[in-house]
Amino acid sequence: SYYTCVDQELCIACGSCGALAPDLFDYDDEGIAYALLDDNQNRIKIPNVLEDDLLDAYDSCPTDAIKLTKANTTE
Ligand code: F3S
Repeated sequence: SYYTCVDQELCIACGSCGALAPDLFDYDDEGIAYALLDDNQNRIKIPNVLEDDLLDAYDSCPTDAIKLTKANTTE
């Protein structure tokens, strides 16, 4: 499993991540994305059921703004 956050300096508000993973990403007033579950803190493990959405969003981001950190467990 993974943790995630958005590098908001890199996000260009393309809107792809929230479309592909609406439970994981939302946007601020300027359309800049942030990770929903932990307010972009890279702290809460992404539930396994949302992992496909997460990876789709990660792959879709045109500026590689979405950061993934592999959780250090065997879950
Ligand atoms: Fe931004 Fe990438 Fe999402 S550009 S809106 S973090 S897909």
